[in-house]
Amino acid sequence: MSASSQQQGPVVRWIDQRLPIFSFLQHELHEYPTPKNLNYWWNFGSLAGIVLVIMIATGIFLAMNYTPHVDHAFDSVERIMRDVNYGWLIRYVHMNGASMFFLVVYIHIFRGLYYGSYKPPRELLWWLGLIILLLMMATAFMGYVLPWGQMSFWGATVITNLFSAIPWVGEPIVTWLWGGFAVDNPTLQRFFSLHYLLPFVIVAVVMLHLVALHTAKSNNPLGIDPKSDKDTIPFHPYYTIKDSFGLGVLLIVYMALVFYAPNALGEAENYVPANPLQTPEEIVPEWYLLPFYAILRSVPDKLGGVVLMFASIFILFVLPWLDTSKVRSARFRPIYRQVFWIFVLACIVLGWAGAQKPEGAALMIGRLATAYYFFHLLILMPILGKFEKTRPLPESISQPVLKN
Ligand code: HEM
Repeated sequence: MSASSQQQGPVVRWIDQRLPIFSFLQHELHEYPTPKNLNYWWNFGSLAGIVLVIMIATGIFLAMNYTPHVDHAFDSVERIMRDVNYGWLIRYVHMNGASMFFLVVYIHIFRGLYYGSYKPPRELLWWLGLIILLLMMATAFMGYVLPWGQMSFWGATVITNLFSAIPWVGEPIVTWLWGGFAVDNPTLQRFFSLHYLLPFVIVAVVMLHLVALHTAKSNNPLGIDPKSDKDTIPFHPYYTIKDSFGLGVLLIVYMALVFYAPNALGEAENYVPANPLQTPEEIVPEWYLLPFYAILRSVPDKLGGVVLMFASIFILFVLPWLDTSKVRSARFRPIYRQVFWIFVLACIVLGWAGAQKPEGAALMIGRLATAYYFFHLLILMPILGKFEKTRPLPESISQPVLKN
């Protein structure tokens, strides 16, 4: 019998002896030895988990009042906004939750890039994260189609049409995806079905992500492994309280959006019902997909653009091997810590370029940022790792603190 179940009451002990869920939780959430130097950038994993739960909870209530049919979808969403009790609130929390989810996860990824959290032994943890990212993109894309506004319809048409660039089988694939010869009712129904399903697949992959995390253990801002018990503290109460503070800050930003600017991040055009006979002047995806949209449009050839866009994500899967540096954290890599910020800037510029018309200066700037994105990952990372003169690493996590 574990120490934890001995401390519990008889009911918990009875259950725990037969199914050790309490010992498991005690071990993984309470005692989990966590490096004692984690900064606030380590809050974003748990924040992502909380936003995921909020998305599923609000989504289930929305689905109770939503009708996945081309003749009723738009009106059913308007009914949610006007007639369903607190429907407007549930919808705005869900809609803006998608933006918060991507914001939190993007920060989570850039944290990993800065502190080298993708490097051994955390490669599979990183891969599972990337799978989550791909699933999130698919889910968000299909969710955006459901209100069946102009942007829903035309966004779905443009993005699914990308598959037609594949030689030979492209056209049949698009027809198969649509379930017909245009984006129509079968498309809407399958997107609804998958939009409901995929978040639960994300939950399953998040579980694996956490198993991988608890196997490899958390990295930390110094990027060195804990040497003794002195370098770690129990997760609870130290990080549960720190995560709660982070949650408070997140909720302030999130609720400010929901209550004061619920449509700031959306497109007005999507409040116009879908009309297959009228193409909007501009078709733009949501902000969190814009960098990838910019990469897609930076190539004049359709197939080339599609390949480059998918490559921009798949390349991240080989990052643990592209980065040849022995040192994890950018704190000890004087050059990497500067080019890292150029990379962040390139991603922001890509986001900006994705929202512009693909012509003139905006197109050129988008192309330059695309070039830097690939140059950074494919050329700079391997070369820097070999030639950069890194700063000496401290002997342990405690040493820099105790020395002062
Ligand atoms: C639903 C989305 C996600 C959830 C709920 C989630 C959850 C978490 C949690 C709770 C942690 C531990 C706390 C922390 O280090 O912040 C973590 C760590 C980590 N996550 Fe995620 N994650 C998600 C997406 C991603 C993505 C998209 C990536 C990368 C592409 C990623 C890569 C990592 C890495 C490398 C670590 C280890 C960090 C370290 O110890 O330094 N995660 N994740």
